[in-house]
Formats: sequence, C-alpha cells, structure tokens
Amino acid sequence: MNIRAIIPAAGKGERIGADIPKQYISLAGVPILVYTLEKFQRSELVDEIVLVVGREDVKWVKDRILDGRGLTKVRKVIEGGKERQDSVALGLECIWDKTEDDDIVIIHDGARPFINREELNRCIYETQKVGACVLGTKIKETLKSVNENMTIKQTLPCEDLWIVQTPQAFTASLLKKAYIRAKEERFYGTDDASLVERTNHPIRIIPGSLWNIKITYPEDLQLAEQILKMGAGL
Ligand code: CTP
Ligand code: MG
Repeated sequence: MNIRAIIPAAGKGERIGADIPKQYISLAGVPILVYTLEKFQRSELVDEIVLVVGREDVKWVKDRILDGRGLTKVRKVIEGGKERQDSVALGLECIWDKTEDDDIVIIHDGARPFINREELNRCIYETQKVGACVLGTKIKETLKSVNENMTIKQTLPCEDLWIVQTPQAFTASLLKKAYIRAKEERFYGTDDASLVERTNHPIRIIPGSLWNIKITYPEDLQLAEQILKMGAGL
C-alpha cells in the first residue's frame, strides 16, 4: 500500500498582500513551504509527495526552493489551477494511473508549516481504519450570525462545531469517486472533505494542534515567528 501526499501551493496569497505568494515567505531564513514539505519528508509513512505550484513557478521552485534541501520524496512539481480544488485535482490526475484502490492520499496546504509528524501519522492511521480522516479543532469561541447592517441575528449553538484543518486523508478509491462526482456536478468546496461528504462516506475528525495554523493574514506571520521560537510544530 502506498501513501502519497498532495501539497497544494499554487495560491497567490491575496489576503496577506505580500509581494510574493505567502508559501515562499521566509521564516527564520527558510521558506514556509520548506517547513511544510520537511514534515512529509520526515514521516516514515509517506512514500511520495506531489507538489502543486503556480503557473510558471515550476522551474523556479525546483531550482530555488527545493534544490539542496534533501526533499527526496518530492517526485513531481506540477502547475496548479484557478481554485485550490483545481490544483488538488491536477495533483490527483498525475497519480491516478499508479494508484491502487486501497492506497492512501493525504492532502495538506502548503501554507500550513506547523503540522507535526505525530498528528500527520495519526491522520494516516485513522484513514487506514475508517477510510477518511481530517484534523480539526473544536470551536472555543461563541459564534454569531450577523445581519447585513452589522447587527447580530443570533447566537449559533456550537457544541458540535469544529474548525477543520489539513491534513485530510482518504483512501484513493473514495477520493477519486468524490473528485469525479464534484467535476460532473460542478461542485466547488473549500476543502477536500466537503467533496467526500457528498458520497455519504463517513469521515473521522481527530483533534489537531492549535499551532497547525494556515498562514492567511499578515498577523499570522508574527504568530508563526513565535510558534517557531517555541519549537512547536518542528
Ligand atoms: N492553493 C492552490 N491553488 C489555488 C489556490 C490555493 O494550490 N488556486 C493553495 C494555497 O497555495 C495554500 C492552500 O491552497 O497552500 C490554501 O489556500 P489559501 O490559504 O486560500 O491560499 P491562497 O489562495 O494563496 O490565499 P488567498 O486566498 O488569500 O489568496
Ligand atoms: Mg485562497
């Protein structure tokens, strides 16, 4: 059984508003994407990594980001698409022909550098047991829905609400079914689980670390520096 990782890193990072896509910004001298890839490189369970980057970035990423870092599991660097889902779909297309039904595919945002190896492995073990598993954290704040005029509509009950993270892992046959169906139905989701949910296959959620942040806004870079200093997520 093979375990392959798809790392979508083809976004432009509009919300962070930096002059380069956020996955290439350096933290303590090392690009964010490298921290992410190193976690998958070091996991004894992961066999191969497919990295999906922006149009025209393939060569530059190979030469300037990957070269000399010992990231030997990165077997392919390919061009992504318009939405995150398109980028993941392109990554999946280039592994299907060598994938067996019970292989596992694990998808993780390039912009989430602090996934730790233990959580990554736990996500894979659960997927081996139940076919689909994502990391998440239970909502700890009070949630309100808000009217257009910025007054509160109501407080939402959130006993059973979770914020999902990546990694998200699935058996290959299930993920393939979900992606084919989404394409047929022209469904776009903001994560991979939302595509698999439409197949009605149960997806296990396990608690992830609060340090497993997705770098999204400028403030996240400051937070990331602190997380690095603490040594969490290394
Ligand atoms: N991503 C991708 N292809 C896209 C869009 C996003 O591979 N067309 C990747 C990003 O590079 C990131 C992950 O998906 O690693 C999560 O996306 P997000 O945080 O939204 O990143 P960006 O789209 O780059 O940021 P923004 O939405 O602020 O522009
Ligand atoms: Mg985006």
